[in-house]
Amino acid sequence: MEVILKHITKSFSGTKALDDVELHLKGGEINCLVGENGAGKSTVIKVLAGAHMPDSGEIRIDGKITVLRNPRESQMNKIAVIHQELLLVPEVSVAENIFLGDWPKGKTHFLDRKGMNEKASGILARIGANINPRSIVSSLSTGEQQLVEIAKALSKDIKVLILDEPTASLSEVDANNLLRIVKELKNQGIAVLYVSHRLEEVFAIADKVTVFRDGKYIGCVPGQDATKDEIVKMMVGREAGNIEVRHRVKEKGKKVLEVNHLTSRGMFQDISFDLYEGEVVGLAGLVGAGRTEIVRALYGADTYDSGEILVNGKRRNFHHPADAIREGISLVPEDRKTQGLVLGQSVEHNIQLGILKKISSYGMIQKKQGRAVVEDYRDKLRIKTVSVETDVNSLSGGNQQKVVLARSLAMDPRILFLDEPTRGVDVGAREEIHKLIDEAVKNRLAVLLVSSDILELLALSDRIVVLREGQIAGKFNDHKVSKEEVIKLAAN
Ligand SMILES: Nc1ncnc2c1ncn2[C@@H]1O[C@H](COP(=O)(O)OP(=O)(O)OP(=O)(O)O)[C@@H](O)[C@H]1O
Ligand SMILES: [Mg+2]
Repeated sequence: MEVILKHITKSFSGTKALDDVELHLKGGEINCLVGENGAGKSTVIKVLAGAHMPDSGEIRIDGKITVLRNPRESQMNKIAVIHQELLLVPEVSVAENIFLGDWPKGKTHFLDRKGMNEKASGILARIGANINPRSIVSSLSTGEQQLVEIAKALSKDIKVLILDEPTASLSEVDANNLLRIVKELKNQGIAVLYVSHRLEEVFAIADKVTVFRDGKYIGCVPGQDATKDEIVKMMVGREAGNIEVRHRVKEKGKKVLEVNHLTSRGMFQDISFDLYEGEVVGLAGLVGAGRTEIVRALYGADTYDSGEILVNGKRRNFHHPADAIREGISLVPEDRKTQGLVLGQSVEHNIQLGILKKISSYGMIQKKQGRAVVEDYRDKLRIKTVSVETDVNSLSGGNQQKVVLARSLAMDPRILFLDEPTRGVDVGAREEIHKLIDEAVKNRLAVLLVSSDILELLALSDRIVVLREGQIAGKFNDHKVSKEEVIKLAAN
């Protein structure tokens, strides 16, 4: 099967998201689409998914001009899309999500639950996902939910598979597993469109690399000829550096957080570590290792069963995030859509949420002062938005992530929990974010960092705690540890 897009243009009020782009997908080939945040990647995917009608241009499927008016028409053309923001139904089981809408029926026309679970198990096993089909989706981590999305796509007979940043929240091992699956599907003749900000994986799987910049098609190069420098230059229009490893030379500050024997049954056991001002402690581990759960418990977002938490030497038991915030703690959550953003509200409002008191006097928001803070972060993080009054929902995924981060930084916390802070953020912006974190840490901020991107974790952390299945598998007390050492400990 061959899908060719030509001269596709799509505008939203005020933004030309796609400006005369082309794209070429072919059976048995992986085309990787790359570009900075807001370049138009998700928009072109939504065009192929039948979610957006282009303003102009044509889609040819096997030579025939085809109009995809809605998602159903896209599915009828055997196109499956895994969107950047997951679309599972949180309240029902994994199996029900996989077969959503077309559940296998038994002889009696009643839902054959057993058959459905077995079939779901089979598909999950095929992609190496160790997930119980009976689990309720909301109880799964983002990474696990990602795997369920893939299983869902594979439950149908498909010819084109489109993945929008599928590994953004997966650990190295899980991501490698996914890449293996994608390659396998390609070998079975499926045409794959793959979007990612992780260039290493792009080079590992791409037959072709297509680059968009500011809604425009910049070019398409064969995977084996492409070099990282060349691709980055096409993406950003300038040269960009690598993640540099930090070497913070400093005297030890005050201990701001101490965690002793923290346990939450079924989630994590006997977690002990501490955090000093002016340092970054990285929590490494695979999806399901308990990293997010620990951070949420420390933040008062979830309860725990035993153990103690000391903040600035005082024992604390937060019942609610508001308690933690009052102690100068802030969290950038893993899932920006459900935990991080107030959708339907402006970029400005979202950034100001944590500092309303600070920018108010006598209960009135000081508009000018508040606007200045927002504009400062918009510039520092290069948040791409028509205006700060724009609904945050209409920003691209990576730019939404920057808004969540800006809100936390604006609060000027003493302790910052970062759960996948650069998820879905492009190479250039990632550097900016690393610089901001680094600066804040030099000004004595203490950071607890969770990142599936092992290179990011190594680059930013002064010390690393490795988790495996809810327990501490080991600690590295300096940053000179290698990627391989951490992975080995996390995966065993
Ligand atoms: N529904 C919408 N309403 C208004 N503007 C939109 C809408 N969807 C996308 N845009 C704008 O179109 C541009 C392209 O967005 P898109 O989501 O395609 O970027 P992307 O390349 O996927 O970025 P990222 O890497 O951050 O996911 C952005 O400027 C975005 O703000
Ligand atoms: Mg996107």
